[in-house]
Amino acid sequence: MGMSYPVTSIALPPAARPGDPLDRVDTPALLLELDAFERNVARMQAACSAAGVALRPHAKAHKTPAIALAQIRAGAVGVCCQKISEAIPFVEAGVRDIHISNEVGSPAKAALLAQLARHARMSVCVDHPAQIEWLAQALDTPLDVFIEINPGQNRCGVNDAEAVLRLLGPLQASPRLRFKGLQAYHGKVQHVRSRAERGEIARQAADRAASVVAALDARGVRCEVVTGGGTGSVEFDLAGGIYTEVQAGSYVFMDADYARNDYADAWRFEQALFLASRVMSVGDGSRIVLDAGLKSLAVDTGLPDVWERPLDYVSANDEHGIVNKRSPEAPHPALGDLLLLVPGHCDPTLNLHDELIAFRKGVVEAIWPVAARGLSR
Ligand SMILES: Cc1ncc(COP(=O)(O)O)c(C=O)c1O
Repeated sequence: MGMSYPVTSIALPPAARPGDPLDRVDTPALLLELDAFERNVARMQAACSAAGVALRPHAKAHKTPAIALAQIRAGAVGVCCQKISEAIPFVEAGVRDIHISNEVGSPAKAALLAQLARHARMSVCVDHPAQIEWLAQALDTPLDVFIEINPGQNRCGVNDAEAVLRLLGPLQASPRLRFKGLQAYHGKVQHVRSRAERGEIARQAADRAASVVAALDARGVRCEVVTGGGTGSVEFDLAGGIYTEVQAGSYVFMDADYARNDYADAWRFEQALFLASRVMSVGDGSRIVLDAGLKSLAVDTGLPDVWERPLDYVSANDEHGIVNKRSPEAPHPALGDLLLLVPGHCDPTLNLHDELIAFRKGVVEAIWPVAARGLSR
């Protein structure tokens, strides 16, 4: 007679519990080093406050309400989300001021935004009259609207003040829409390695935004807020005098790509995000195979770095990571050893994980849900 197995539900044990030492964490798991994280949050806030510029960190970097609330406690005016769906967990967690740093692409999206605007102060970008029409039809509460300009990235945004003025007509004709100002975000500048070159491109982007602001001013149109900027350009965004609000996001974590930029010391944020991974095979004894591959790490901007070990992560399979020693004399990690990886790109890596394990001095302190992850729409 064959064995019969009872049908049951089997719960996956938690990856870690508060109080656990780090080496007990089940892997692969995303870790947040709290001391570095808190210093990053405080440092960015202090820099923005000293410049008299509002900080509205981009929550697409972390997708984690606990982090948004920490940034707001430190002085941030609210957060940005790139997708309207991602704003939902933040509103549910009590964030009451969210800028959608993006355009709506359908009446359905405008309807979702209208729903959220009943629960929080929301704002959004437009760069086409149809978006204004969808928003005007969907809303039953007031909404702040930014006209996005293209400061050189050639993604969203209109090109000049004349185009802004053409959108202002229909925007101001809608009683629920309030023109708040401009969004001018230049993504390509962020990862330019040389600080001098980055500064130059950021200055050109700021000059384009400044010329639109001046042309609007000459026509009697005031931009109350000019929002934009990121972790790589913030030094220049704050000094340029045109941005009234900065949207940097990755600075809370940093990643291997951002770490490759050249910064002035004051602008190099600390690595706070790690992927905990374990050696799960050594093959014939000469190999190092980790349990972290494409399903736990985004590699769009490059492979992860191995933190403070003379090892190179050289290839990512779905659920395997292949690591080489940098020199034959380097110690060979043993089966089961915990290695910390620095993800190549923080934002899409967060999107792969349900939780962030926050630790301090080698001990787990809290488990934070990455509540806005995986919201593909
Ligand atoms: C519109 C917008 N603002 C701000 C940011 C934040 O940039 P970072 O995470 O590089 O600081 C991004 C990132 O892509 C963005 O798309």
